[in-house]
Amino acid sequence: MIDFQELIKYKKNNKFYSSKEISFIVQSYLNDEIDDKNMTLWLKEIFEYGMNIDETVLYTESIINSGEKVEFDNLDGYVIDKHSTGGVGDKVSLILGPILVACGCFVPMVVGRHLGHTGGTLDKLESIPGYNGLIDLDKFKKIVKKVGISIIGQTNEICPADRKIYSLRDKTNTIASLPLICGSIMSKKISEGIHGLVLDIKYGNGAFLETKKEGQRLGELLSLIGKNFNVDVKYLGTDMTQPLGNFSGLNCEVIESIYCLRGRGPDDLMDVVFKLGRVACSLAKIDNSKQKMIDVINNGKAYEIFEKMVYEHGGDINSINCDYTDCIEIKAYESGNIKFIDTKKIGDAVNYINKLKGTRDNNSGAEFFKKNNDKISKGDVILRLFSNDLNNLKIGERLVRESYIIK
Ligand code: URA
Repeated sequence: MIDFQELIKYKKNNKFYSSKEISFIVQSYLNDEIDDKNMTLWLKEIFEYGMNIDETVLYTESIINSGEKVEFDNLDGYVIDKHSTGGVGDKVSLILGPILVACGCFVPMVVGRHLGHTGGTLDKLESIPGYNGLIDLDKFKKIVKKVGISIIGQTNEICPADRKIYSLRDKTNTIASLPLICGSIMSKKISEGIHGLVLDIKYGNGAFLETKKEGQRLGELLSLIGKNFNVDVKYLGTDMTQPLGNFSGLNCEVIESIYCLRGRGPDDLMDVVFKLGRVACSLAKIDNSKQKMIDVINNGKAYEIFEKMVYEHGGDINSINCDYTDCIEIKAYESGNIKFIDTKKIGDAVNYINKLKGTRDNNSGAEFFKKNNDKISKGDVILRLFSNDLNNLKIGERLVRESYIIK
């Protein structure tokens, strides 16, 4: 008989969990045999003392086993996914996924909703009228086979234990724990049935990790876990000291992604897309990858795949729009160069103006006209915020007004 109260004290006493003990914790919490109060005590211990790599692998395995694992047979191509640790204006998955499919890969992608100040890929896709991101695994597999890519949210079929534990971590301030983050991210990715995974580890003031070094540590850990499950993982650290691309929001980010897929994406965003794409293609053993990615954008294949995926999910890409009633421009208070952007504050503002009387304002967002080191004259527009609620916008304006340092 396992005594949970004893298990809680393990880490403090330098003891290590066995596979049976970790499975007991994960499964008992999922089955309501451990309540929130006791699970919080365990999470706080892990938050404080951590877990070693073997325990983190066991924890990841227990979460995978709490749900179903997708298997893809007879797919004629490399099965790969891309994951980002999250940033402001980060819509890379919407662009890179279809590009990789057009280059010959298959991309089954389980994504999250917005987390803290960062936007969620699922929220963005759901802003397309009709898009259903919560389909069952059978349909998910069928769309991956037919189109090459399907992007869904986490349903009860995939890692239900992570869903429940994540929600408790969110309420108890225990998100920022490396073993818990690794178990949470990797369990969902491994359950997708992928051969390879490319990770975009964001660092900087708009990311969850402030420094490149912290990002490297997370990247190494995630790669090690992948190795234990025969998934090839490569990671890239990318800058998040300013919003990525020209827009942050929901519909506006989908529209910007369409522009990118049609060859009209902004340089900073396309640079990240191509860098990650090259890493992904190296895993998939696709040579001459940069040229291939450019070709599938220019010949329309990548956009066509995105359009087909949206259609298979019930979405109507042609009815997406970004109509709003109000807009506020933030102008430079002096001339000089942009020396600093408080990216997190901008993310908070975008999330704030996204709330519309208890629902989401899909058409709200921000457009960025100036980035780090850009020259600027007094009175130039730095960014504009738009939404369907002027009061919200005024609060958002207050948040971003002091987000830029010009010198
Ligand atoms: N994303 C996840 O899916 N899980 C975490 O714990 C953190 C980020």
